[in-house]
Amino acid sequence: MVPAYVPNPVAALCGGGTPIDFNRNYSDGRRILGDGKTYRGLVCGVLAGIAVGALQIWLAGTCGWSFLPQHTAASILLLSFGALLGDMGKSFIKRRLGKNRGDSWPIADQYDLVVGAFVMMLIFDPAWILSNITLPILIVILILTPILHRAVNIIGYLSGVKKEPW
Ligand code: CTP
Ligand code: MG
Repeated sequence: MVPAYVPNPVAALCGGGTPIDFNRNYSDGRRILGDGKTYRGLVCGVLAGIAVGALQIWLAGTCGWSFLPQHTAASILLLSFGALLGDMGKSFIKRRLGKNRGDSWPIADQYDLVVGAFVMMLIFDPAWILSNITLPILIVILILTPILHRAVNIIGYLSGVKKEPW
């Protein structure tokens, strides 16, 4: 899951500039995604996810770290892009529910990346999910994700990178 966990904090670090929705509103008069989803955040986040995934592939190959998952070019791309796609899907629904950018939306804010990454994997590389995401691993992901999410966001808040600690 590392290639899926890295894109969000990196997007928060280097995001900004042109919003993905180009400042446009949806038919309900609210922003499509909002200012919290930018092209720079998306590109930097996905590239960072791919970079750590590539490092994992390299470590598994050269150092023989067989405890690492069987990552491929497709799996690291789908996990990192899927994570931010899930994040965007969540923002789209958040705006439709009338929540402003940065408002807290418990559960959705924490699991958006897991849903996005798994949906992309299930569509384009279901065999990878079946052979790598076993039930115990899924349970660990479901427990670890909100804890990591909260911890990283508190660090982001205290260091001034994020405006909210969630
Ligand atoms: N970010 C970005 N581009 C993305 C994702 C995130 O630039 N594709 C940056 C934005 O600066 C954003 C920050 O990362 O404010 C934190 O991300 P997140 O908490 O997901 O966004 P919010 O600002 O809370 O917006 P939303 O309410 O839509 O989730
Ligand atoms: Mg947020």
